[in-house]
Amino acid sequence: MKLEKLDKDLIWHPFTPLSGSPDPLLIQSAKGVYLETQDGRKIIDAISSWWVNIHGHSNEFIANAIHQQALKLEHVIFAGFTHEPAIRLAKNLQAILPGDMSKIFFSDDGSTSVEVALKMALQFWYNQGVIKKKVVAIRGAYHGDTFGAMAVGERGIFTDPFQSHLFDVAYIDFPVAEVESKVLKDFKELLETEEIAAFIFEPLVQGAAGMRMYSPLILDSLIREAKRHNVICIADEIFTGFGRTGKTFACDYLTETPDIIAVSKGITGGTMALGVTGCSKKIVAAFDSDDLTKTFFHGHSYTANPLACAAANASFELLMKEECRSQITMINSLHESFRARVQAHSKVKEARCLGTILAVELRSYDETSYANDLRKKIYPFFLERDILLRPLGNVIYLLPPYVIQESELDRIYSTIEEFLDTLI
Ligand SMILES: Cc1ncc(COP(=O)(O)O)c(C=O)c1O
Repeated sequence: MKLEKLDKDLIWHPFTPLSGSPDPLLIQSAKGVYLETQDGRKIIDAISSWWVNIHGHSNEFIANAIHQQALKLEHVIFAGFTHEPAIRLAKNLQAILPGDMSKIFFSDDGSTSVEVALKMALQFWYNQGVIKKKVVAIRGAYHGDTFGAMAVGERGIFTDPFQSHLFDVAYIDFPVAEVESKVLKDFKELLETEEIAAFIFEPLVQGAAGMRMYSPLILDSLIREAKRHNVICIADEIFTGFGRTGKTFACDYLTETPDIIAVSKGITGGTMALGVTGCSKKIVAAFDSDDLTKTFFHGHSYTANPLACAAANASFELLMKEECRSQITMINSLHESFRARVQAHSKVKEARCLGTILAVELRSYDETSYANDLRKKIYPFFLERDILLRPLGNVIYLLPPYVIQESELDRIYSTIEEFLDTLI
């Protein structure tokens, strides 16, 4: 039976209505920025396959690291046992993570690293006998699809069926320039009137909300205020980490540092599923006890999988190379020039850029949102031209693997302009 038919019969794809959706494309192989189909199509992966791929597909250096590790130790239980790839990765991460991340906790993906972060923050207070339960999040946030992660995200079509099962969260408005001082005032009031356990945020860019960007200065002020009220600050760098915003982490644009950080996606260069939650000495101190009730009872079967850790160590080596840094700089400078140019187009409401992220928000009669119907035009237009761009409603965004070439970026930019000219 044809693979496509078997797929249709057997497989339930993520974020995809079960009927009315086009059939998925069968990808046979991938190299660098290209996804390759059986019939020889080469599609530019302009969104790094859901923001994970940073060094290009089928990267030989990472593939070799996974291969060598698989021949040596593919997996071992991580309670009571440990291994070199995890220890090396913890050391590598500690060297680059913002702030003092004195302990590294492994899990499986972005959502689980957020769950770990939230549970650490809540148990931090519990272990000290302090009653602080409420979490503050920013409107529009997306932190993942597990229950805790959904609870601290924006509520809407993704979360409606589960609404009554999600814990209560206080939201502050998204701090765009025009409302920064109001948001800070509201946040201060919240901190004065309620017992807040933690503040979670996507630093500088809310990805799923449409690549919405905000200033490091206001985020610094919010963190400073939270810390003044002894609130645990959690940075969700799952999307923004590992060079995506131009610096190694988005928090590197700040003067304040988080108490807890969640990372995933680019950590393995986009090859293996892995989540990491780092936390400061202050957090660790509340768990540092032989009292069983103070133990952090959380773990997954594949915690610190050696293959994933080996991939992450290899990806780390590539990320630290000058070559990678200069690619990021090149992408940013081309993005910036295109942003300035496209901003003037009559169909563009706003064009935004940070590091390797470029977002073009289109004017639309409907509000800017994931459900905006323009996505139904945008996605096929680009795919027909062998470019994978998966818009967030009326927001076209581009965040390529760092190995992309100038000519490939130019091709994507001119196709975006071609699309804009089709809009009446
Ligand atoms: C900021 C942020 N947090 C968490 C997640 C969830 O990560 P995952 O899909 O790996 O569970 C995402 C995924 O897009 C994200 O962008």
